[in-house]
Amino acid sequence: MSKVPQDCEKFEPFSYNSLADLKLTIKKLKISLSMDDNFECFKQPIALNNIEIPNRLAVQPMEGFDAQLDGSPSLLTLRRYKRYANGGAGIIWIEATSILEEFKSNPHQLVITQRNFEKFKRFVRYLRKILDDTLKTLGFDNKGIIILQLNHSGRYSKKGKKNYPIRTYYHNDLDAAINVNKKEGKIISDEELIKLEDIWVKKAELAYNAGFDGVDIKACHGYLISELLSARTKKNSIYGGYALENRARLLLNVIKKLNNSVPTSDFIITTRLGVYDGIPYPYGFGNAKLQNENFPATIDLSEPFQLIQLLYRQDVKLLNISSGNPHYKPFLTRPYDIPAAGAEKPPEHPLCSVNRMITLTSSIKKNSPKDMIIIGSGYSYLRQFAINICSALITNGMVDICGLGRMSFANPNFPKQILQNQKIDKNKVCIACSKCSELMSKGKNTGCMVRDPLYKS
Ligand SMILES: Cc1cc2nc3c(=O)[nH]c(=O)nc-3n(C[C@H](O)[C@H](O)[C@H](O)COP(=O)(O)O)c2cc1C
Repeated sequence: MSKVPQDCEKFEPFSYNSLADLKLTIKKLKISLSMDDNFECFKQPIALNNIEIPNRLAVQPMEGFDAQLDGSPSLLTLRRYKRYANGGAGIIWIEATSILEEFKSNPHQLVITQRNFEKFKRFVRYLRKILDDTLKTLGFDNKGIIILQLNHSGRYSKKGKKNYPIRTYYHNDLDAAINVNKKEGKIISDEELIKLEDIWVKKAELAYNAGFDGVDIKACHGYLISELLSARTKKNSIYGGYALENRARLLLNVIKKLNNSVPTSDFIITTRLGVYDGIPYPYGFGNAKLQNENFPATIDLSEPFQLIQLLYRQDVKLLNISSGNPHYKPFLTRPYDIPAAGAEKPPEHPLCSVNRMITLTSSIKKNSPKDMIIIGSGYSYLRQFAINICSALITNGMVDICGLGRMSFANPNFPKQILQNQKIDKNKVCIACSKCSELMSKGKNTGCMVRDPLYKS
């Protein structure tokens, strides 16, 4: 699984006009991506404790950096989510929402607080009405699921507009990727991490009271919990070292405490889990001790498998799987043709990057308890053909739900198109141009500059 097929080494941009074209390239690359043209699987509900997720499509979390300064949703935030709700996905996974008012990843990041709680309550009520009405018109009786992603930005925190990396360990390449040096920011202490557990729980309780269907204790993309999972070199710390139980302590403790404070039969506790960071050992999560290839890091999922067993024992029955660190090797998280300004050109064929994500996710599915629901991501690169590949993945039991991120910015009606018209409108798809990522890294309001008239200018 860890070897990169040689044919993958050459970059080629997307140029497939038909499924046949795409199949030819997949064959040439010697990767195995199946396709299906029966799309009934997307309409199948799936049960999670007392909750029934109405269909197999999800909107992945996408930071819009358009919140009010008090962290509450602005009119622009409402616009984005209204567009998603009108699309009819079974799950809308709300973007990274800071658990702290200080150290946001952007001054306009969402933050849930006691003070703005009523605004979040109205936001969920507004969204739910539109989503459930859309789902009804599409023939689904069950309510849509709205999950709030709760995050500590960790290494990617800012003090005001300036980077203020809150690290679990030093790493020169990760520092260089965001242009900071060791003197900037700090290493987080155990005392601070202990306090954060209770803050995280309080924020999740606020989310429950605001009417969200669940919370995601975010553990991917190099943010605080994700980085802790690879903090093998963090010395003299109950949150670091070689024992996985230590590195996963923050994630597991937050979930354990939450299980005792919210009624979990009708509230989902989940995590977006990065199962492979692509950063060589002893850093990185989901990689092997012995590096038997140069690029990007040899995959070994034994620790992610162990962690999933620990999460399952704490009643986590839904996981949203991702990989990579978008600040460091963005092609691992979101395969693209054109890099954002300052990012690297894809060092491999983007279909191979898509294939890596799919293979990682299906390995997780295969090695997880049968009733663990797995959401996959990284499909937007496939444009209109995402429908064919996702239907094959779901039908073959390689994933339960397909979540799309950049496609939701570009074409928020993709679920409706799939469920009603059995196709994704090819004139509306994401073209993997990284313009949204560029807006994000410049700290601006983020959306699709190609398809959404509001962001074109
Ligand atoms: C502009 C932008 C913002 C993102 N914001 C988040 C976020 O808030 N939380 C998160 O877990 N992932 C975030 N992601 C990652 C996406 O959810 C998704 O994993 C990634 O784009 C790959 O899926 P796709 O190919 O469907 O776009 C973001 C990606 C982009 C491009």
